[in-house]
Amino acid sequence: MNLVVGVGLRSGTSYRELRDLVSAAVAEAGGGRVRILITVEGRHQEPAVQRLAATLNAELQTVPKSELSKQNAPTPSTVVERLAGTPSVAEAAVLTTGAELIVTKRMSAGATVAVGQLGAAPAYSPGERAVVHRVLGERRDVRRGFVDLPVADDVLERVLGAAHRAPSVGLSQPWDFLVVRDVATRRKVRDLAAAQRDAFARSLPAGRRERFDGLKVEAILESALNVAVTCDPGRGGRHVLGRHADPRTVWFSAAIAVQNLWLAARAEGLGVGWVSFFEPGEVAAVLGLPAHVELVGYLCVGPVEEFPEAPELVQSGWAMRRPLAWAVHQESWGNRGLPGAEPTSIVADAEAAAATAEALRSEQTVRVIVGGNPADYLDDPDVLVVQLGERPAADFGVLWRPVSSEADGVEVGVELVRDLVLQGAGRIAVRVVEESVAAAGVARGLRVGAAACGAEWRDEPGEMPDSSA
Ligand SMILES: Cc1cc2nc3c(=O)[nH]c(=O)nc-3n(C[C@H](O)[C@H](O)[C@H](O)COP(=O)(O)O)c2cc1C
Repeated sequence: MNLVVGVGLRSGTSYRELRDLVSAAVAEAGGGRVRILITVEGRHQEPAVQRLAATLNAELQTVPKSELSKQNAPTPSTVVERLAGTPSVAEAAVLTTGAELIVTKRMSAGATVAVGQLGAAPAYSPGERAVVHRVLGERRDVRRGFVDLPVADDVLERVLGAAHRAPSVGLSQPWDFLVVRDVATRRKVRDLAAAQRDAFARSLPAGRRERFDGLKVEAILESALNVAVTCDPGRGGRHVLGRHADPRTVWFSAAIAVQNLWLAARAEGLGVGWVSFFEPGEVAAVLGLPAHVELVGYLCVGPVEEFPEAPELVQSGWAMRRPLAWAVHQESWGNRGLPGAEPTSIVADAEAAAATAEALRSEQTVRVIVGGNPADYLDDPDVLVVQLGERPAADFGVLWRPVSSEADGVEVGVELVRDLVLQGAGRIAVRVVEESVAAAGVARGLRVGAAACGAEWRDEPGEMPDSSA
């Protein structure tokens, strides 16, 4: 049985007194493993509490008075309230952990104790959880503001150690970390990124290109060092558990190692910028990787002036975050909503949102062509061709959605506009080339989605006008 022991005590209470009281209460509970010893903030420094936690090998947690007084403790006391500022310490402390109270308050001369039972392994304390969420929230992709300071070896080892503790399919640990400090090598890598940056810029519509020009996409030379995270897809031989069914898992594993590295680096105050403006084989050649090893992520790592509060792509207006409620489906695809909320369909959600939608400021137009031959349209960088039939050959200009009914088409249309708006679009021009109920549904969905997002919508019947005119 996993137990939580809540403790309130006068300052200076002896270890022996506290230990005897706790032992009796735990015996009354029927025995078990004390996982958490919890007390009010400040009292955790009492020597008796510290020693008891160490002896029990229990996690010592604290809770602020304000949290204790919110609990509905069964044995409140006006005396305790006068002394401690909350009507219950021991029982209330147990209740804050989510445990079920199984031994109510027991008292000695200087201490009170209560025991709770946890249904499952204990969570971290609220303060510890806050730290985890802090690092998750404050991790940033950093490309600006690297300072000319080195990364100490022990710090780098901790960061790489965190990456190396990542989960991996069949424990195959397919990653390696190539630390690159040499400036000549980095220049070559930077030149590859610069070429890709130019190619990407050329592919963009004019307005989008201007915005892109203001973005920085790498800090290969400015950062203290670079780390190439690689993947050996064959590591572990034939029978790697789990990889046999889905070979992609080996890549997922290496990507998770990057995330571990990123989070640990943030905790050390090191910025990390992931650069993917490469054809990976070209970087592999510069780095002299063996042919069976592939590049997963090229990271610029080092001390930085500051961590931006929001992603640079958000701050610059390039893209927006997608709400969590759009991403969570309950039981079946399309029933969207947060845990505990009534799920809604994307169409109902969009129709409701239209009433309060504010007009978007972006003037970026995406011209959505539903159906037709992509080759006829893709010279225009504003165009996105949506194909509803067979899966097309991979092409970023073509979006494949396997829609056959009108209703599915409407959903796809709504989601498509939402996604385009998240990527900076403010105006949607629609031309339906394909004559089908699915295509008509997509067109209707695009209209509903545009209204929901505050995007401008227009129908472009007939030939697409020349965008350069
Ligand atoms: C796989 C991957 C590749 C990325 N490649 C680049 C890149 O080449 N250049 C760049 O500036 N940012 C790159 N990023 C960073 C993303 O733009 C960034 O993660 C996103 O905008 C969210 O910002 P945040 O990481 O600060 O939360 C990449 C991120 C990932 C996960």
